Amino acid sequence: MGDPVGILGLGTYLPSKVLTNADLEKIVETSDEWIQSRTGIRQRRIAAENENTSDLAVGAAKAALADAKLTPADLDMILVGTMTPDMPCPSTACIVQAKLNAPQAASVDVAAACSGFLYGLVMAQQFVASGTYRHVLVIGAEVLSRVVDWTDRSTCVLFGDGAGAAVLGKGTQGQILSTYLGSDGTKAELLKVPGGGVAHPASHASVDQRAHYLKMNGTEVFKHAVREMSKACLKAIERSGVKPEEIACIIPHQANMRIIQAVVERAGMPLSKVYLNVDRYGNMSAASTIVALCEAVRDGRVQRGDYALLVAFGAGLTWGSCVIRW
Ligand code: UT7
Repeated sequence: MGDPVGILGLGTYLPSKVLTNADLEKIVETSDEWIQSRTGIRQRRIAAENENTSDLAVGAAKAALADAKLTPADLDMILVGTMTPDMPCPSTACIVQAKLNAPQAASVDVAAACSGFLYGLVMAQQFVASGTYRHVLVIGAEVLSRVVDWTDRSTCVLFGDGAGAAVLGKGTQGQILSTYLGSDGTKAELLKVPGGGVAHPASHASVDQRAHYLKMNGTEVFKHAVREMSKACLKAIERSGVKPEEIACIIPHQANMRIIQAVVERAGMPLSKVYLNVDRYGNMSAASTIVALCEAVRDGRVQRGDYALLVAFGAGLTWGSCVIRW
C-alpha cells in the first residue's frame, strides 16, 4: 500500500434557473403528483442559454480549487465525466482546461454516462497513487436539458443540469479506501442518444426522427439499476474492510427515490443513512453523485473520520462504487 490518496477540495455549480413540476405541467401532459410519487423529484435546475457544460464544469472546478487552496497551475490532469459534452470534438475537458488556464494539465473526458464521475475518481486515484501526477481534478458536469426530448413526458421530467468537482492528491481527508467498477455493454440499447455519432450521423432524417434526443426504457433501466447498485454497495464495503454498520452516509446516484429505496433495502442498509437531493435537482447524470457528496459534507452529514459510500449507475450500462474515509 502506498501513500493515501484523498480528496483535497470539493465544489459545485448549479445553474440558477429552477424548473418545477408545476412548470412541466405546462409543457407535457403530466402532474406534480405523478412525478413526485414515481420519482421523488420536485424541481430541477436548467442551464442558461449562454451556459454550456464546460461553463458549469469551470464553476464547480473553481470552487473545488478554492476549497483545496490550490490554483489551476497546480493541476496535472483534468478528467470530465459527461454525456453532454459541449461538442463531439474536442473534449469538454480541453475546453475546461483553456477556460481555467491550467497549462500543465493533461485533459480528457470520461464517457461513462451517470457513472462518469465515479469512473473519473477511480482513474484519478490511480494516477495519484502511482506518483504520475500530484493533483488531478475530477468533474461531473451535464447540461441534460439540451438532450432530453421535451415532447417525451416519460424522460423529460427526470433530468436536470449541474456540475460538481473534486481535487485529488496525496492526503487522508476523503481517503479512498476501496473502489469497484463494472459495465454491461450488451444492455446498451436501454438508454442511449442514438443520433450524432458515425452510426447515425446528423442528417435531415435524423433530426426528423428526433434521433439526437435521449431514449430510455425506464422500466428495464430501473431493474438493472437496483440490481447493480445494491451489488456495488456490498462490493465496495467488502473491499474496504469496513463493516456495513460503520458506514455513516450513503451517497447514491440520484435518479429516482424509488430506485434508492430499493437499493438500500436490498443491500440491507437503512434509508436514514442516505443523503438525498433528488427532490431538488432530479437526475444530473455524472454530476449527481459528486454534487451529493459536496452537499453531504457541507451539511455535516459526512464529518472528518466518517466512512461514506458512493454508488452510481448509468447508460452503458455502467456502474461503480467506492468507500471513502472523510
Ligand atoms: O440514471 C439512470 C437512468 N435513469 C433511471 O434511473 C430511470 C429509471 N426508470 C425510472 O425511474 C422509472 O421507470 C420511470 C420514473 C421512468 C417511470 O416509472 P414507472 O413506474 O416505471 O412508470 P411506467 O414507465 O411504467 O409508466 C406508467 C404510466 C404509463 O402509462 P400507461 O401506459 O400505464 O397508461 C406512462 O405513459 O405512466 C405514464 N407516464 C406518465 N404519466 C404522467 C410516463 N411518464 C409520465 C409522466 N406523467 N411524466
